[in-house]
Amino acid sequence: MNSLSEPAPIHMPVLAEQVVEHFSGDRLSIVVDCTLGLGGHSRLLLERHPQMRLIGLDMDDQNLSHAREILADHAGRIRLVRADFADLDSVLADLEVRGVDAILADLGVSSNQIADPDRGLSFDLDGPLDMRLDRRRKTTAADLVNTLSEGELSDLLYFQSQERHSRKIARRICQVRRQGRINSTVALARLVASAVGENPDSHRGRIHPATRTFMALRRSVNRETESLQRLLGLVPGLLREEGRVAIISFHSGEDSLVKKDFRGRSREGIYRILTKKPIVADESERLANPRSRSAKMRVAERMSGP
Ligand SMILES: C[S@@+](CC[C@H](N)C(=O)[O-])C[C@H]1O[C@@H](n2cnc3c(N)ncnc32)[C@H](O)[C@@H]1O
Repeated sequence: MNSLSEPAPIHMPVLAEQVVEHFSGDRLSIVVDCTLGLGGHSRLLLERHPQMRLIGLDMDDQNLSHAREILADHAGRIRLVRADFADLDSVLADLEVRGVDAILADLGVSSNQIADPDRGLSFDLDGPLDMRLDRRRKTTAADLVNTLSEGELSDLLYFQSQERHSRKIARRICQVRRQGRINSTVALARLVASAVGENPDSHRGRIHPATRTFMALRRSVNRETESLQRLLGLVPGLLREEGRVAIISFHSGEDSLVKKDFRGRSREGIYRILTKKPIVADESERLANPRSRSAKMRVAERMSGP
């Protein structure tokens, strides 16, 4: 629980109106929010649909407790579960839920997680190189940075975030760690900046040179690609006929996984695609919430089987 002196954490839900618009209609009886976060999308849906029940998942127990408080007015209609959405099938089986009307996944991390230095997600805030959303898991970002071989690090940076300086950065990490473990976010951010020839104290570009390195490590620590692939594979078996799935991604690799999955299933007669092009934030949302700039949402509807 937040103490009264502590301000409530903040995260502005992206493409909120568009989510609500696509998840409408009287038949919305059970909705799954795979990435509850601070409950922004869930709250809007619960307010809009007084009859609807919500199952909310999050790997992060802290966000789950924040969401429990934020959604307290709807306590009788929600079930919140600490779980990876890759296990959505067993979560629903445990709750004895056979089919649902809508599944939402708003991928990545929330603003309050980035702003917490103890999580090690931000190159601006000094903290431990952790990055785990589920702290029960063993491997941290520091473990990867300090134990992977130069080739493995380079591949991780390239394949998880298309970092074009992956080799230079991996080489520098291996040189620096010979002097001692790299344990802090700022130490890593400075090392990356110098590896790509930027001044660690005043980088030239708009984007910090360590942005992609941090994204790659976070994606790897939290097995983000694997979880998304597994979720995409589960959804058709969990949606009722005419049920909808909406996925919001913030990375081109994730968006193309979603696009490919929806297209494949549409060819098989399993989905009707409702967004030929991904939905993106309009100018006013981009200005109000810079995080929305890279958001892309794709929506599909479950048809009856082929
Ligand atoms: C972008 S935030 C969601 C914000 C939320 N839509 C809102 O409006 O407040 C993503 C959330 O999903 C959680 N998360 C990320 N990957 C997950 C996964 N594989 N399974 C469950 N939760 C996950 C993160 O811990 C974070 O709380």
